[in-house]
Amino acid sequence: MQLVNIEIRNILKKKIENMFERKFKNIDIQYSTKKEFGDFQTNFALINSETIGKTPDEIGKMIIESLEKDKENDIIDKIEIAGPGFLNIFLKNSKIRKNLRKIGIEKYDFPIDTSKKVLVDYSSPNIGKRMHIGHLRSTIIGDSLKRIFEYMGFKVLGDNHLGDWGSRFGKLIIGYKKWLNIEEYEKNPIGEMERLYVKFSEEAQLNPELEVMAKEEWMKLKAGDEENRKLWQSFVDHSFCEFKVFYRKMDIKFDYCIGESFYNDIIPETLKILDEKKITTNIDGESKVFFKEEDKIEPCVVKKKAENSYLYSTTDLATLKYRKDILKIDHSVYVAVEKQKEHFRQVFKIAEMMGKPYDYKKNHVWFGIIRFEDSVMLSLKKCGMIRLIDILNQAIEEAKIVIDIKNPTFPEEEKMKIAEIVGLGAIKHFNLSQNRMSSISFSWDKILNFEGNTSPYLQYTYARIMSIFRKMDEESHEINNTYDAEYNELDDDFNENERELAVKLLKFPNAILKAYDLCKPNLITDYLFETAKIFNSFYAGESIIREEDKKKFNTRLLLAEKTAVTLKEGLSLLGIKVLEKM
Ligand code: ARG
Repeated sequence: MQLVNIEIRNILKKKIENMFERKFKNIDIQYSTKKEFGDFQTNFALINSETIGKTPDEIGKMIIESLEKDKENDIIDKIEIAGPGFLNIFLKNSKIRKNLRKIGIEKYDFPIDTSKKVLVDYSSPNIGKRMHIGHLRSTIIGDSLKRIFEYMGFKVLGDNHLGDWGSRFGKLIIGYKKWLNIEEYEKNPIGEMERLYVKFSEEAQLNPELEVMAKEEWMKLKAGDEENRKLWQSFVDHSFCEFKVFYRKMDIKFDYCIGESFYNDIIPETLKILDEKKITTNIDGESKVFFKEEDKIEPCVVKKKAENSYLYSTTDLATLKYRKDILKIDHSVYVAVEKQKEHFRQVFKIAEMMGKPYDYKKNHVWFGIIRFEDSVMLSLKKCGMIRLIDILNQAIEEAKIVIDIKNPTFPEEEKMKIAEIVGLGAIKHFNLSQNRMSSISFSWDKILNFEGNTSPYLQYTYARIMSIFRKMDEESHEINNTYDAEYNELDDDFNENERELAVKLLKFPNAILKAYDLCKPNLITDYLFETAKIFNSFYAGESIIREEDKKKFNTRLLLAEKTAVTLKEGLSLLGIKVLEKM
């Protein structure tokens, strides 16, 4: 299904280009922000007045006149000139209904080239270390972006770029050999690895010799020493086992989990390109990239003095090369904390200097920090050191308390299931609904509120609609899509509330398009919140199953059904499940 604003643009474009006998590139049709401004607006007349040589008013009148003569137009009801020359466009009700019916049945035809292959680099925790809140955010935002790209029709690869390489593994090997508590390592591997790391730092302060030994172990590991290689593999496997528990709970699936270590072999050829293209400057065995002054980017070291000693950016350069050469991607999206902004600016700029084919499209999707309010800290502290899995479990527990109060009569098993979906949904929604670029504060009350911009509110609205359909079944009203089939031309069929909801539902793909464009899932949560609010106030004012007038009954049922479909699809783009009952 074509987006309605694109259909309108195509109609107007044809008329305008015929009228003025030339092409126009800047015909942009926006959804209106206020009802008085019609369903859509365009500033075409305003911005082209000078080049056409007519006033915006004259241009507007010409467009209106040509529309009035057009007998085939079954989309635009009327156009009005407003203010300094905006054109307010009103849709025909029959068109609204026609598109409404297609919701959930036909795929949207997004007006961009979706044949491209996109890679989302997200989550990416570090081996031997606990995942922190930044990884939680990266996982949730990355998963949602992946779902959005997929929904739009792109071919998408999700890659978990594990931090599995670096000199700290030398320290871990020493720690492992000297102080390992094997039972703890099996039970709580990351906790034990963290303890070993801290122990190493403390001991090394007293005995600096340990640093030298750790360096030797790291060198041996790099050289492929069998024993160290085995230990390293065990650190990776044990850590990943723990990460997996978190991913499973969150319903997160990756296409690849290619750690940094994988790229070691590609680093020499990558550096060779930099060298050949004279991108690097070599000073005393160190390779560095200097940027143009106007770029305002700090110089970036890509190779240290010591033999085979590379950095985080070197690995990322090799990674972006591999992703082009082997995975054949066209666009790469890196979801990582704000702190890494400079790193990605360096890497992207160097990729640009490398030229084709490595100058492909890249975004660093960064996000601000989360601050836990005191009550949350308190509830988590009972778990000892805070792990992400504890946050998830606590969210489910907190949701269960709310569900127990709201649905005391539900069987225990069902309440548990609901609590899990509500609790996890709330965590995801909270992370996605904030402008990712601002820092946010987190409390259970805020995220589990059944009113307001939260996932329980959206899930509840969905369940409310489902209960309408359930009641209808009990009262044996006819459903199963027959309710709308007999009406075709119903131009006068919507009242004001119904029309507002219907037009809002048609805007769903536009919200997705914008979220895609800016890599901001909060534009989808905003849209869903507004839609649910409109539905709930519509539902408070209009009876659905008690409506005796068959025509009105059908319209309202259609609206309820399509609201549910839209909420469900929208939530699925956020990785959040819906509930039939709650
Ligand atoms: N492992 C890094 C961290 O924990 C994130 C990696 C992001 N992705 C990348 N290609 N650099 O901060």
